[in-house]
Amino acid sequence: MMRKGTLLLLALSLYHATWEVGAELSVEMVGDAEVYKANSAEIRCLYNFTENASMVMVQWFVNDPRGKRIRIAYSDLITRSKDENTNYTKRIRVAGDSGKEILTIVNVELSDEREFFCQVDGLAAGIEEGRFHLKVFDPPEHPVIEAVHTGVSVTNDSPSKIATCETSKGFPQPNITWYRDHSLLSHKNGQVHVITLVSKDSTGLFTVQSELQYKVTKEDKDAHFFCEVSYYVPGAVRTVESKRVNVSVHYPTTKVEMWRESPQGLVKEGDTVEIRCRGDGNPPPPITFSREQHPDEELEADNDLLVLKEVTRGDSGKYLCRSLDLGSTDYEDVVGNLQLTVHYLDPAVVVPKDSEVMQKGENLTATCNALSSLETNTVWSKNGIEIRKGNVLHLQDATFDTAGHYHCEVTVPSLPGLHTRGSVHIIVQGAPQLRDVKKEVSMSEKVGKWVNLTCEARGYPRPIVTWSITGSPDWREVVRKETEDSVQTIMTLKVSRDTVATCNATNKIGGETKIYTISSIPIIGTTLRNTAVDNSGVIIVVIVLSILLLALLGSILYFLYKKGKLPCGRSGKQEIINPFSTKEKTNKDDIVMEMKADKTENSVLLKGVNGDNKPPGDQYIDLRK
Ligand SMILES: *[C@@H]1O[C@H](CO)[C@@H](O)[C@H](O)[C@H]1NC(C)=O
Ligand SMILES: *[C@@H]1O[C@H](CO)[C@@H](O)[C@H](O)[C@H]1NC(C)=O
Ligand SMILES: *[C@@H]1O[C@H](CO)[C@@H](O)[C@H](O)[C@H]1NC(C)=O
Ligand SMILES: *[C@@H]1O[C@H](CO)[C@@H](O)[C@H](O)[C@H]1NC(C)=O
Repeated sequence: MMRKGTLLLLALSLYHATWEVGAELSVEMVGDAEVYKANSAEIRCLYNFTENASMVMVQWFVNDPRGKRIRIAYSDLITRSKDENTNYTKRIRVAGDSGKEILTIVNVELSDEREFFCQVDGLAAGIEEGRFHLKVFDPPEHPVIEAVHTGVSVTNDSPSKIATCETSKGFPQPNITWYRDHSLLSHKNGQVHVITLVSKDSTGLFTVQSELQYKVTKEDKDAHFFCEVSYYVPGAVRTVESKRVNVSVHYPTTKVEMWRESPQGLVKEGDTVEIRCRGDGNPPPPITFSREQHPDEELEADNDLLVLKEVTRGDSGKYLCRSLDLGSTDYEDVVGNLQLTVHYLDPAVVVPKDSEVMQKGENLTATCNALSSLETNTVWSKNGIEIRKGNVLHLQDATFDTAGHYHCEVTVPSLPGLHTRGSVHIIVQGAPQLRDVKKEVSMSEKVGKWVNLTCEARGYPRPIVTWSITGSPDWREVVRKETEDSVQTIMTLKVSRDTVATCNATNKIGGETKIYTISSIPIIGTTLRNTAVDNSGVIIVVIVLSILLLALLGSILYFLYKKGKLPCGRSGKQEIINPFSTKEKTNKDDIVMEMKADKTENSVLLKGVNGDNKPPGDQYIDLRK
């Protein structure tokens, strides 16, 4: 039955085939055209008969490298099987349905990038074939870039190697492109050369190496270079950028700069001066220093730093620095210069020098000068007190107070580190002059008391001051202070009788004397407290006894009066009653008077010694002791 029908159909087909062969069978192949390596690819073979075919056979083929066709699988709709001993035997599966055969390749390899053929044979119904190209992809590894380590010189005539970039194990072949910062570096004669090396390993993967050769300019010192790898993946193109690299660009020195690094501001003698010189080339060129007057005498320096220790004014002048750039094509020195000015201040010169003797009443002009490269300020002072601004000091109408040490200080306002001092010692010559205007002093003092007498004289040459005493024999000098032009002496003397003390101050020019006249006061009074046994004590005892006798007499008289034996007037009564109070009052007055006398003497003495008065109260107490 089947056979008959088939034959009939075949006959009909043959009839048709005579003028439209193949119209009865169409084959179409669809599936995964692009796959990653190691994935699976499914290829479907779709066929269609215009009339039902009694028998269909589908065969899958590939071509071997020599173009010979190799069958890898077949199917006759009842059985499906893989051909033994082909590359695909283990990696394919075949499945199907009516009008559709499916070939699945697992673990796709690079060699699977080829054409697959599906041949449909319907015998009388015809034979037709479809082809399917499979593409396999394997992304390359991340690019590795390496820049040259040596410097690249801008003076090189042709492009120099900048970096290499490598991307490995990619399929299909990846491409490498170069960028400088963000701009593409495409081949340009004499400017950009890219050398590419492509290799394929045994598994068929590509490794691409690219070398960038580039003509650098000075601007490239801050530029960054990178490479970009582009490669195909199923349905797209991907790009990956390498990391950025920079190169050390060498360029010649065109100018040098010279500057003073220390000290800041004005330079003075004794300073340490540091001068630096730097060229604008890379790498920094070797530098030599010299002075303008001896350009060929190289100064010792630490690379680009010239250190001048403890400079003097002789170090002032122009300094040169020269770069010896060997990288420079037109070999020419580049020179920089710097003017150094070392300021100075010489020691002060004072006129008159050291010391000068003036006569009293004379005039003198002293000057103080110090040579300096800058404007100076001069100030004269005496005993730490400023007395004059300016370098000239006029001393007029000299007195002993004019004498002394005069200092002048010279400073430089614009350079405070500079200053100098000078001094002159002024001596005023003259006859001795006593400190006190009063040349004669009179005083009274109790016998037995010690008094201090002071005598102070100025004069130059220093006066000889002597005491001569007539009267009290017990005296001695207790203080003697001498300066260059003054003498102070204090003499202490025990008053025993009226005394004349003479202070005689003389030098070769003249002399002055001062006379103290001391009247001695014999002591006749006492106080109740004072029970001493000296002369005055005896007198007191006599007086007291007299008073007691008078009191006794008074008592007797009173007694007699009370008895009426003695008539008496009112006034007489009072006179008799009051002997005590009268005596007391008299005594008191005596004491006060003595105190007054003491006080006067003391005032004079204290003034002589200390130059000021003690408060009277103190002296009052002194006397009571
Ligand atoms: C690589 O370069 C070639 C030649 O310029 C080009 O045909 C190809 O498409 C490029 N491949 C990629 C992945 O860009
Ligand atoms: C690269 O650049 C960095 C900073 O941008 C710099 O420190 C380094 O010295 C440069 N390297 C070269 C070789 O120029
Ligand atoms: C006299 O001077 C000496 C020495 O300065 C001093 O010790 C003494 O107390 C003075 N005497 C009198 C009475 O001031
Ligand atoms: C003072 O002393 C000098 C020399 O020591 C003597 O020549 C002169 O006469 C004395 N003058 C008096 C007033 O004592």
